[in-house]
Amino acid sequence: MKQSAGSMPMTADAAIGIFDSGVGGLSVLRHVHAALPRERLVYVADSGYAPYGDKPEAAIVARSLAIADFLASQRIKALVVACNTATAAAIAAIRAQWPRLIVVGIEPGLKPAAQQSASGVVGVLATRSTLASQRFALLRQQMEAQYEVHYLPQACVGLVDLIEKGELHSVATVTLLEGYLRPLLEQGADTLVLGCTHYPFVREAIGSVCRRLGGRQPAIIDTGEAVSRQLRRLLHETALLADGGDGSLCGFTTASQSTLQHAFRRLLDLHPPVHALAAG
Ligand code: DGL
Repeated sequence: MKQSAGSMPMTADAAIGIFDSGVGGLSVLRHVHAALPRERLVYVADSGYAPYGDKPEAAIVARSLAIADFLASQRIKALVVACNTATAAAIAAIRAQWPRLIVVGIEPGLKPAAQQSASGVVGVLATRSTLASQRFALLRQQMEAQYEVHYLPQACVGLVDLIEKGELHSVATVTLLEGYLRPLLEQGADTLVLGCTHYPFVREAIGSVCRRLGGRQPAIIDTGEAVSRQLRRLLHETALLADGGDGSLCGFTTASQSTLQHAFRRLLDLHPPVHALAAG
């Protein structure tokens, strides 16, 4: 069991740590930054180890604990696991290690999708690991017991790699999306859950592929904003909201600094300093 900042008490001026296997968590960071503009945010992209979604659970847990350990050393008051795959595999282990730290994870939005779908058929796009996890099975079971809904899980193998390379509209990305979306639309899905934080960055490509496939435009569910609301609520309840902070950002990556800098600029129009983080 560890404390978030050694023996120092947590204070409102401490930072919020956010991590993902790569650039995907920036789709969550943008909501956190918009909802909590005075908070100091420290982002870690574990791009040296991306994608997580095809790795064994033990490897995802080990990476997630290593990154959480680094962020805890940065004097954080809260940790956002901005990765569905890491949340499914490792959030329990992170909470066990840092029981006093506010830890917020992200899960595929099965509930809002069930509430919104008219056809009752919902496609769930996520990594193989998320879809194979116990947490996902449990959530799916709960939702299917509560709503008249049928989920069609679709592992989007290869998509994270393309998004990490910045290929948001390339032929390879569109071709991959077509292959994954066609069967979902053919089976009557009118709602698609983006169950991986990388996927909001290909939301436009998903929309145009669906249009081309001729079906009705499905509703798209992204839970990034819900994460920022939950984080805000927990910081408020614990009197840890920063009121006079400068809202500064900085990034760390276990791969190329210029790639993360470029992703901040291209995906969010932000220009924070980015540092190297040893991968070991
Ligand atoms: N962005 C991640 C997620 O939300 C992980 C993708 C990956 O590394 O496979 O699941």
